[in-house]
Order: sequence, then structure tokens, then C-alpha cells
Amino acid sequence: MSRLLFNMGLDAQLVNALLAESGCELGDYEIRQFPDGETYQNLLTEVADRECVLLINGVQPDAQFLSWIYMADNLKELGAKSVGLLIPYLPYMRQDIRFKPGECVTSRHFAKMISEHFDWLITTDPHLHRYDALSEIYSIPTKIVPAAPVIAEWIKDNVADPVIIGPDIESQQWVAEVASMVGCEYEVLLKERSGDRDVKVSLPNRNDIMECTPVLVDDIISTGRTMAAAVSNLVASGMKAPTCIGVHPLFSDECVSLLKESGASQVVSCNTLNHPSAKIELTGVWAKVLQQGL
Ligand code: R5P
Repeated sequence: MSRLLFNMGLDAQLVNALLAESGCELGDYEIRQFPDGETYQNLLTEVADRECVLLINGVQPDAQFLSWIYMADNLKELGAKSVGLLIPYLPYMRQDIRFKPGECVTSRHFAKMISEHFDWLITTDPHLHRYDALSEIYSIPTKIVPAAPVIAEWIKDNVADPVIIGPDIESQQWVAEVASMVGCEYEVLLKERSGDRDVKVSLPNRNDIMECTPVLVDDIISTGRTMAAAVSNLVASGMKAPTCIGVHPLFSDECVSLLKESGASQVVSCNTLNHPSAKIELTGVWAKVLQQGL
């Protein structure tokens, strides 16, 4: 029997495409807040013996977290065979160390809570920096659907003579993979961050790439300050106006205007989150994984 998907925040158009391409069915439920702010949930689809999957939008996770847990636990109590998660943007991956003595390593605690309530998880390009693999913090099976192949295809179709630029050392993993798939050079810059919106990035340091079209690739664009600092430096060093690509367009500030004002020619992202810049589609790959399982 096909899997039963419960949409908890993904864009309706994306969900329809996932249903059509995976052959999964859509489950129905009611959710609302009581006047005191507590949550009411009611499953309207029979779930006994079904493999269920929650489709989760990972942005602003604190506001939604309890609803995910209520849904998972209720599905299990009502007989679901398993409850998995498709969460294209996996939040809480960036606090992966205690930078100051009292800080909470939220990535670890978030992973522990998710692992306690779900059976497996599918995501795209989680921010693996100081962790080598999700299995270091998640105790359930996980599958990463990489964005690099679709990003590489988009670059081949849309940018002439590209060079892929990573704005910081963490981006090396994605940038190197994308460059090898496109068949072009890459360079990784160095970043110094002294606050949420205070970022410095080094200048490019190679003469042989100066005539190419720079394509900045990063996993997350949040305030846009990392990309903006990199764009300004590339332009100041005499390169062409860069294209900016983010896998996860969190875009917490006025990112697109900031990047355009800094000198970017275009800003595009993957459809891990719903945003007008999300022109690079992973829908088909997620649908295949939903159909085949982990
Ligand atoms: C962190 O290292 C990530 O890879 C991104 O570079 C970072 O999250 C971007 O954040 P922002 O857009 O706020 O500079």
C-alpha cells in the first residue's frame, strides 16, 4: 500500500507534485488553537497499519514543534506502522558546538527529540560542519537528498563560463561537488563572523578565474550578509556580477534587495522552502525517495 502523507507546512503546489510523482496518498487532519493557545488536533484519515510521512517546513521550528510531536504520537497510538519525516530544510544544525561556556548545543537536543518521536527522516543538504554525518546526533535512519546535481544542471543551462565560489570554508563540500559536476573551477573564500549581521569575507585569490562568471553557492542564505560580503568583494576585485545560489532560502531579512544592491546579477534558490527565488527543483528526487523508501 502507498504511503500516507500529512502536510504540515509545505507549499500546496509542491505537495500536489509530490503526490502525483510518488503515487502516495494525502492524509487529512484538523488543527486549531484553543483560546488559551493550546493545540487541538484530530486525524480524519484511517491510519492503522499505514506508513505515514509528515511533510514539514523547517523554518520557525519553535512555533510548530509541538504540533509535529502531537501528530507523530497520535499516528502511532492510532496504529500507524511507521511515521517518517520529509523535512527539506533541517533546522537547528548550525549550533553544533558550545562557542561560549553556557551555550546550549541545540542541534544535539533537537536531533534527540526528533529521534524519539519519528522512525526516519529525509532532508536536503543539512548544515554538516562540525558533524561529519547526521548519525552523530540522530539515532534514526536518515537520508540526505543532495542538491548538487540539480544546481549543477541549472548552472550548465543558465550561466556561461562559470566559476563556482564558496563564501566560507563550510561551503567547500557543496562547491567542490557542484564544480566537478559542471566541469569548471572553484574557489572557497574565508569568512569571519562577529555577529548575526556582521560578516567579513576574504577576496578571491586566483588570476585564472577573473574572466569567468562567478556563481556563489552556499547551503543557507539567512540574513544574506555572508553572500552580500562575498558579492561586494568579487565585484570590487573586478569580476563580473555574480549569480547567488542558496540551497535553503531562509531569507530572514530583505535578502534579495541586499544582494542585488551589493552587485549580484541574480539570486536563485532550491525549492526546499517556498520563495519566489526557488527556481531549482528537487521535487522529483524527493518523490522518488518517498516512493522507494530510505
Ligand atoms: C553557515 O556557515 C552557513 O553555511 C551560511 O553561510 C550562513 O548560515 C549564512 O547566513 P547569513 O545569510 O545570515 O549570513
